[in-house]
Amino acid sequence: DKYDFGLIGLGVMGRNFILNVADNGFSAFGHDLDQEKVDALKDEGDKEHKIDASTSIKTFAKALKQPRKIMLLVPAGKIVDSVIQSLLPHLDRGDIIIDGGNSFFTDTDRREEELQKRAIHFFGAGVSGGAKGARLGPSIMPGGSKSAYSHIKPIFEAVAAKYEGEPCVAYLGPKSAGNYVKMVHNGIEYGLMQLTSEIYDLLKKAGDFSNQELHDTYSQWNEGRLQSFLVEITSKIFVQKDDLNLSELGLLDQIKDKAKQKGTGKWTSQNAMDLGIPVPSIDIAVNMREISALLSERTAADKLYDRPETEKIDKTKLAELAEEALYFSFIVTYAQGLHVLAEASKEYGYQLDISVIAKIWRAGCIIRAGLLADITEAFEKDGDLPNLLVSPNFVEKVKGSVNSARELVAFGAKNAIPLPGLSNSLIYFDAYTSTRLPLNLIQAQRDYFGSHTYERLDKEGVFHTEWD
Ligand code: 6PG
Repeated sequence: DKYDFGLIGLGVMGRNFILNVADNGFSAFGHDLDQEKVDALKDEGDKEHKIDASTSIKTFAKALKQPRKIMLLVPAGKIVDSVIQSLLPHLDRGDIIIDGGNSFFTDTDRREEELQKRAIHFFGAGVSGGAKGARLGPSIMPGGSKSAYSHIKPIFEAVAAKYEGEPCVAYLGPKSAGNYVKMVHNGIEYGLMQLTSEIYDLLKKAGDFSNQELHDTYSQWNEGRLQSFLVEITSKIFVQKDDLNLSELGLLDQIKDKAKQKGTGKWTSQNAMDLGIPVPSIDIAVNMREISALLSERTAADKLYDRPETEKIDKTKLAELAEEALYFSFIVTYAQGLHVLAEASKEYGYQLDISVIAKIWRAGCIIRAGLLADITEAFEKDGDLPNLLVSPNFVEKVKGSVNSARELVAFGAKNAIPLPGLSNSLIYFDAYTSTRLPLNLIQAQRDYFGSHTYERLDKEGVFHTEWD
């Protein structure tokens, strides 16, 4: 008997994903060049789980039912191309390759085009939820050939996370739509992570919150409208004991403040800029990882400048302001990410349905949050909503929380506590909701030095002035 599903790349993600497939009653065959990983997977085969693996790509391909459904969970980049090349001699027309990694979307477009010539279907399917998600139910964001989706749909719907019984997976659009959506998911992820970390800084510095109090506060927030995976894990991180027992302090206090990145957040910022869609809450999150990486420079610069002594805010009051500010800036960050998706959909022909995307983000993925149910509703009501901030479902939520953001941004500026994500969210909000911005002056300057012309408020047409 041949196998329903094939998976290449038996690292943590791949192994967990294939076990998830097998748990759901599909027979699954794995491939990896590492004998140990193959053996470890073979050991999982038992009466309930029809699972096998091989280091031979030929054996792997032969073992699969046609059309073959082969998922790659290998690092993004050249490895994807080389795995595809090694597979090709063993495939038949109509077979399906699914790239489950964080591939750059133009790579996916190129691969799809090349494979189409051989009548092989290709999907770029972002998988979110980390190792645990892959094992127990990730959010899956597939894009590619619509006609071929019916072959993988039953497997994906079975393995995906469920939100009130609905699977967190849906066909999103043609070509690289799936990878693009996953890229923006990660951009939002960067934004939310930055926000949760700067609020932690504020609570510590202005409110002297202990790690236990931080845990209690974030846990309490997670019970309310800020309910989200990131707030939840953050609350747990605060009270994690040092597993090396080197310090009395909790583990978090011993972790270097030097953030790494694999690139997806940066790609979101870069591509948003190419599309002309502002995402400052995401941009600054990328910038902060960059600044954090300059640890030795920061340490040297710190010695050159004094900072004002931090004023203190009453703990209860501070927690209240912070909850509101965080809620406001979470909304703004999702708004920016979704705005990019709407524009990318037009530019790249993805035909995205934003409500479907919000829906499949409600569970399984890293940015899952209670807010996504409200976002889904907002876009279900109006699929052409230009921006979440103008949704009738959101205006009151924003009005009720923006003033706390103002208060904290002002406090942060005065007390030299950087609140970059919060500040940029507020700036974005104030600018996006202003009829009149001072950019009339920029137009005048451009015309002054470069005859670049300008438009007028009071008369149609294009004008140029011989400036004195
Ligand atoms: C997910 C994550 C995941 C990503 C990590 C690391 O949705 O499960 O987004 O795909 O690889 O978050 O990203 P950085 O190394 O860039 O922080």
